Amino acid sequence: MRIIVTGASRGIGYHTTMALAKYPDNHVLALSRDGDKLQSLQKAIQELKTAGRFDFLAIDLTQPLPTSLIEKIEVMGGIDILVNNAGQLINKPFLSTPLEDWQSIFESNLFAPVRLIQALTPFLEKSKKAHILNISSMGGFQGSSKFPGLAAYSSSKAALANLTECLAEELKEKSIAVNCLALGAVQTEMLATAFPGYVAPVSSEAMGTYVADFALNGHKVFNGKVLPVSVSTP
Ligand SMILES: NC(=O)c1ccc[n+]([C@@H]2O[C@H](COP(=O)([O-])OP(=O)(O)OC[C@H]3O[C@@H](n4cnc5c(N)ncnc54)[C@H](OP(=O)(O)O)[C@@H]3O)[C@@H](O)[C@H]2O)c1
Repeated sequence: MRIIVTGASRGIGYHTTMALAKYPDNHVLALSRDGDKLQSLQKAIQELKTAGRFDFLAIDLTQPLPTSLIEKIEVMGGIDILVNNAGQLINKPFLSTPLEDWQSIFESNLFAPVRLIQALTPFLEKSKKAHILNISSMGGFQGSSKFPGLAAYSSSKAALANLTECLAEELKEKSIAVNCLALGAVQTEMLATAFPGYVAPVSSEAMGTYVADFALNGHKVFNGKVLPVSVSTP
């Protein structure tokens, strides 16, 4: 499988990439802004007993996509799976969250996946069975517990979940499945920012392993689904 993972420099994306890269048949392209951390990820993959092909590109996904991304995809011969994992969290009371913060969080959590999906659909539609996997949050899952300070974050994740359902319909003619995992608490830098002092029951390695497996196999049995993946609240 030829796979792109966004937000691979740390947390869930890092471990998703590690879990996907251990298969010799996979070719993974990792994206995030921090090139040094992506280089460390490359070193960790080179130390695996078995590893597929790996490449990375340090880009800010809230900016127009560089031609170097398309060039790397052409070298890969196309794309089968896109994991939209990169995300940003702002923890501020609603009344003191300026519109600039709302715009920033929607840029990274919704518009960046939109931009990437639009740019990569011409490649994905050439795959025999493509999968777009969007990573949302329990905060963006209808009817879930909500927490003060997370209005902008949770709204952006709800929008990503709804986009998933819309795109599954719109892209089904192109044989591109689109699913969304609404994650519960996972121990990462993002969680520590949102809930200082709270210790999540799930490690980023365990969740990354699950996300990797779902990216490879979930579209064999699901399409257009927003699935809660959570053992705790938050
Ligand atoms: N941890 C949780 O409890 C939890 C719960 C529910 C959902 N989630 C979701 O799971 C995903 C991963 O979360 P995490 O906890 O692993 O977060 P994290 O540790 O903060 O990592 C976020 C990743 O996104 C990348 N990123 C952020 N903005 C970017 C941008 N503009 N361009 C490119 N890359 C960008 C970061 O890399 P750079 O800084 O190098 O760019 C980093 O690799 C997120 O979508 C998050 O909303 C997490």
